[in-house]
Amino acid sequence: MVIDCFAFFKEMKNKMYSKIDTKIIEELGAIVGQTNVQTTKDILKAYGHDETEDFVFLPEVVVIPNTVGEVSKIMRLCNQQKIPVTPRGAGTGLAGGALPVCGGILLSMERFNKILNIDEQNLQITTETAVITEVLQNAVKEKGLYYPPDPASKGTCYIGGNINTNSGGPHAVKYGVVKDYVLNLEVVLPNGEVIWTGANTLKNSTGYNLTQLMVGSEGTLGIVTKAVLKLIPQPSQSLLLLIPFESPESACAAVSAIFRAGITPSCLEFMERRAIEYALVYLGDMKMMIPDEVQAHLLLEVDGYYIESLYEDCEQIAKVVEGFGAEEILFADNDAQKRELWRLRKCVGRAVKKGTIYKEEDTVVPRAELPKLLKGVKMIGQNYGFESVCYGHAGDGNLHVNIVKGELTEQQWNEELPKAITEIFELVKSLGGTISGEHGIGWVQRPYMPIVFGEVELGLMSAIKNVFDPNNILNPQKIF
Ligand code: MLT
Ligand code: ZN
Repeated sequence: MVIDCFAFFKEMKNKMYSKIDTKIIEELGAIVGQTNVQTTKDILKAYGHDETEDFVFLPEVVVIPNTVGEVSKIMRLCNQQKIPVTPRGAGTGLAGGALPVCGGILLSMERFNKILNIDEQNLQITTETAVITEVLQNAVKEKGLYYPPDPASKGTCYIGGNINTNSGGPHAVKYGVVKDYVLNLEVVLPNGEVIWTGANTLKNSTGYNLTQLMVGSEGTLGIVTKAVLKLIPQPSQSLLLLIPFESPESACAAVSAIFRAGITPSCLEFMERRAIEYALVYLGDMKMMIPDEVQAHLLLEVDGYYIESLYEDCEQIAKVVEGFGAEEILFADNDAQKRELWRLRKCVGRAVKKGTIYKEEDTVVPRAELPKLLKGVKMIGQNYGFESVCYGHAGDGNLHVNIVKGELTEQQWNEELPKAITEIFELVKSLGGTISGEHGIGWVQRPYMPIVFGEVELGLMSAIKNVFDPNNILNPQKIF
């Protein structure tokens, strides 16, 4: 769906923002060089989408800076001229955070792709923000170090995008999410000023926490150009278990019991049967027989330094899951088997996207509430007549609910489905959860924010935005 943002927001845009004319294009060219200012239709289209459904919003121009000084000059110009700017990392987002919904400039950060320093003494890395997450992980692994946050798109997504959505991924359950690794950020503010948000320290009680304010702010408060991230030693051993269950709800109930037994897995993922079926079709080359009665799996990893103690953990886990009706467990103890199982799990989102029209909800609840969430999602699906494919980071209570269009009519999809999503989110809220665990709010989840925040909280957020960006030029129409 290609959306002409001028038509879409015409009235608002005309009131609030200036149109980009040839003079502005020349000024942008003088800042970054003409070749890094692109206006051809194909380029505008290529940068007008991320991975969110099939949305495409055309920007007026794509600008590709290379230095913090260039970003600063661009922002100063846009702030003076009231031109909207949408920052973009790798475009792997699932909530439309990088969609240029108001047109204007699409600011691609792709040239900020250098790792600047790995400090082995202090276990820190300083990096530009368009470094691919897996590239950074591999660079520190060579030195025996570990940067755990690992979203499914880690082979293509950028550290900057991860910071802006406070990404997690499977290892978050033991090691935490991006916010737990960000120490200090270089940020260009909407008026062009450049700041550092904190210090390169593990502790910091010095004033308001600007670093954590930036984390998860989805490019609405500033443009993150450099990051200092915490590292930890790389665990040397791991075991991976695939645990089948007849009942998806029992699989979810087993999750909190594992933690209550005193074990903290390094990953604890849930996949219902349909999730694996979509993944197998997508991969094409993987053979896996799932007995008819098996309706869900937990994929569980334990890691550490002593293999014997990991085997002991696994024995204990086997006892716990037996109490929840687990079938025969597959132990993956060689690298090839582990790689295959992760390949299966990590492609589920892409597999559903390729296989059908869908919408992805990123629900999260306290982990013991997971069975109630799953049951409720399925009931809401029955009431509205849609199929959902549920999977995700069960150890964190983070369930991705992919709603499949299937036989739904356009009217049901466009008018009825938002009511169903509202019911899912109200359920999430009633269970003590919230509407995004790791994908962010961006453009598509914005209408649902009042389910989890009242006027006062939304007013505070809006006031914070106004302090940073009084002209509302930076990633407008996102979050709230
Ligand atoms: C995942 O857990 O697979 C990711 O969040 C990606 C996705 O949901 O598509
Ligand atoms: Zn996920």
